[in-house]
Amino acid sequence: MSGRGPLVLKLGGSAITVKEEPFKVDLEALGRLAHEIAESGVRELIIIHGGGSFGHPLAEKYGIHEGLRDRAQLRGLAETHRAMEELNRFVIEALLEEGLPAVPIPPISCFLTRSGRISRAFTGPVEAVLGLGAIPVLYGDVVMDEEDGFRILSGDQIAAYLALRFSAPRVVLALDVDGVFTKDPTRHPDAELVEVLRASEIKTISAGGPGRGIDVTGGMGEKLREMAPVAEAGIPVFFTSGKKPGNLLKALRGEKVRGTLLIR
Ligand code: IPE
Repeated sequence: MSGRGPLVLKLGGSAITVKEEPFKVDLEALGRLAHEIAESGVRELIIIHGGGSFGHPLAEKYGIHEGLRDRAQLRGLAETHRAMEELNRFVIEALLEEGLPAVPIPPISCFLTRSGRISRAFTGPVEAVLGLGAIPVLYGDVVMDEEDGFRILSGDQIAAYLALRFSAPRVVLALDVDGVFTKDPTRHPDAELVEVLRASEIKTISAGGPGRGIDVTGGMGEKLREMAPVAEAGIPVFFTSGKKPGNLLKALRGEKVRGTLLIR
């Protein structure tokens, strides 16, 4: 499938930051991923990156996930956005270094949510940047919420929204794990990678129905539920590890590489 809209690439926060250390960029990984993007030759592209150790510690400290309860959180709103802008600057720098015309588009100024879900979006700038042949770069951010004051808008929700909005030919997620496993691979050495998953299976498993013994709990479960409507719309979603050199390059080129393919 090709010749439709731009490919949507999500760089997981865990793939570009050092998990254990707040506000530390994994510069080696980020530089390599930027190089792999450049090498792939894919130029019709929207990039969204996560927060990793920049966004999550602050969001947690100030309870940003729960929305506005107390005015002391306003400082957290400002600090969380500032931290994401800082990380974004590193991402932009790495992409520019590889000769890619990466243009930051701060989600705080083009999305509103209602109870955490995108309710209004001004995607004009994304479309215009794409139209010029440059690469819009967005990120998980704190955004204003019509119900709760503010909320965290994840990079995954943005990726799914833009993939549908711009009819992406496919979505690639570069994470710190290979993909979806039958069990939590950090606790079960016999966990097996699921190579192909159908969107309908996610619903069945989430609802407690019979599944192929797939682990849909935790962060990966949320990602799958976010991406299911994208796959259902006929846009394949590929999960792979951005920590392993060469994986992203192959995934962007559409070559076979270890990961999970989510399809309709
Ligand atoms: C989180 O974005 C952004 C903030 C916490 C401000 P994501 O949810 O997309 O981040 P990762 O990829 O899981 O780190």
